[in-house]
Amino acid sequence: MTDQKINILFLGDIFGEPGRLAIKNLLPRLKEQYSLDLVLANGENAARGRGITTKLAKEILASGVDLITGGNHILQVTEVYPCLNEKDSRVIRPCNFPKQAPGRGVGIVKSKSGVSVGVINVIGNMYLNGAADLPYDAIDDAIQKIRDEADIIVVDMHAEATSEKRAMGWYLDGRVQLVVGTHTHVQTADEEILPGGTAFITDLGMCGPYNSVIGMDKNIILKRFRTGMPQKFEIGVGDVRVCGIVCEIDLYTKKAVTISRICERE
Ligand SMILES: [Fe+2]
Ligand SMILES: [Fe+2]
Repeated sequence: MTDQKINILFLGDIFGEPGRLAIKNLLPRLKEQYSLDLVLANGENAARGRGITTKLAKEILASGVDLITGGNHILQVTEVYPCLNEKDSRVIRPCNFPKQAPGRGVGIVKSKSGVSVGVINVIGNMYLNGAADLPYDAIDDAIQKIRDEADIIVVDMHAEATSEKRAMGWYLDGRVQLVVGTHTHVQTADEEILPGGTAFITDLGMCGPYNSVIGMDKNIILKRFRTGMPQKFEIGVGDVRVCGIVCEIDLYTKKAVTISRICERE
């Protein structure tokens, strides 16, 4: 560890092929522009909007993402399970999923300058159908598990309710360096550094087509909402953006120094 600070880019949910291509195209410039040491991204929507495959995970990692987090869709494609189960897998799923679920809820990656960054994925309970435990005990256990090995810790809190994400920010303030919300695909303007030194944002936004309803074709979604009839969803087309935050963390004080939103058009 030579540098005193580390710059981390955390990208919001990568949505389908448009999102994957956009990060591939934009990441080299973003790495240069923000002197990035590490890139993290939520990948639960990489495979046509739902789930991720091993091939697509590899593609995203090859684009320059160091570790991929998940959410309610991460187990949608069963083919990815062996990849999630690999030792030191760089694709993780929420730590409060049932024990029987494949994969792990924590991962550790090294930054360019050799800093060990622990990443924890956790999922909320409100308005999300699933069998996940409450996130609080699970995240305490996850922090305990990696606190000796990780120089700093970053958390992806995947949840529908803004209140639940905000509450997690307060719960972890001073114990981890960065808490980001994902899942709602709409970037919030509330990024800040909490009193204990933890950087926080309620939602990172999405990497994908914004000419859509949270990634899906807007006309199909409108038809579904207006008629109540099931529709075959297709991915939206156009206005592709790459959104997330850049966070600078002081490695000596173990506190975040800055957090800035980015939302770049392809
Ligand atoms: Fe998502
Ligand atoms: Fe989600």
